[in-house]
Amino acid sequence: MKKKLKKDFNEIKKKLHQLSKIIQKEKNTEELIIIKVIVLTYLTVSVEPIFQGNLKNIKKDLLEKINETILIFNTLKIFKKFSKGNSEINLLKNEKFLNLHTNLWQQIWPEHSFKEYERLVEYRGKRLDYNRIRKEFQNKEVIEFGCGNGSILTALMKRGAKNCLGLDFGKKNILAAKKFSQKYKFGNKMKFLCADILNYKNKKKYDFIVCSAVLHHLKNKELMKKMITKFSNISKNGSYLYLFVRGFGGMRYEIQDICVKCFKKVKTGVLFNHLMYLGFNREKITHLLDWFKAIYLQTKPEYLEKIFRQNGFTKFKRLRGPHKNDLDINQIKKHENSYIAFGSGELRYLCKFN
Ligand SMILES: C[S@@+](CC[C@H](N)C(=O)[O-])C[C@H]1O[C@@H](n2cnc3c(N)ncnc32)[C@H](O)[C@@H]1O
Repeated sequence: MKKKLKKDFNEIKKKLHQLSKIIQKEKNTEELIIIKVIVLTYLTVSVEPIFQGNLKNIKKDLLEKINETILIFNTLKIFKKFSKGNSEINLLKNEKFLNLHTNLWQQIWPEHSFKEYERLVEYRGKRLDYNRIRKEFQNKEVIEFGCGNGSILTALMKRGAKNCLGLDFGKKNILAAKKFSQKYKFGNKMKFLCADILNYKNKKKYDFIVCSAVLHHLKNKELMKKMITKFSNISKNGSYLYLFVRGFGGMRYEIQDICVKCFKKVKTGVLFNHLMYLGFNREKITHLLDWFKAIYLQTKPEYLEKIFRQNGFTKFKRLRGPHKNDLDINQIKKHENSYIAFGSGELRYLCKFN
């Protein structure tokens, strides 16, 4: 069975790479960037219901959407005829890996309105409730590495954490996190610090360490390993680590990776403006910009679990996802074709240090 799944996966991957080549072959002139945004947005949103469905006909369904995307791109390419000029606009030349990520999240995270932020906090909190994680952080000291606008910490504080410290290298993220935390009136119990987590040094030990959607954006696996060692150094016996990184394999990740390739040279601000013109709401724009620009490492569960053990996190469990689009272990086990769709799925763990 695994052989058949692999064969199907490779067939879809081949078609996807054909699409990627067709798109990358065309210059990034003003009108072509708009067309690229439209078609890759179309691909992204039109495959979502497939991934959230029963996956029975995943190969046929995905091939159909990729073929449609090729057709739309080739059809809209006719606009080229009316181009003002043939020159490429606003292109990035060798954007540094670190700059890309430092700037990207500052452009997409701090912009939430308070209402949107509250929705995000509830979304984060639902996962804690669903996995019955509460006593692990209640009345405990929490630290988060790469906290963004602090929505996970707010969800933890609302559920009874004693105090928390959030670290992020994005100045705007930290400002936004501070602004939102004031609204909740947690006062001094919630602190945020602008810092690069790779250089951050601290001797204080914490009860609950959070690192969510950050380590897969580091440059390589060695740095990921180093960070997990850092987490163990600030753990006490019985402390918990709440970690999320992207998993390995799966068409969903493949689709994102080709979007990133196609927009490699296009500035985030340009994509942002086009998505605004299309009238998308904040949540969708945040999702699409992350999808189009963020670079991800892929990690196998076995690899991560080995690193946990090596660093004293001997008890760990993969968390379950309450949301339709979570790709956690419960969703992955749903259908054999999940292998094609999601590979190993997202790696969300709660680990105990002892
Ligand atoms: C995808 S966001 C996740 C934010 C938050 N953890 C959450 O799940 O809502 C990744 C965050 O990690 C931060 N980040 C990435 N690398 C970092 C580093 N080396 N030092 C500090 N922050 C970093 C980014 O600025 C960004 O806010």
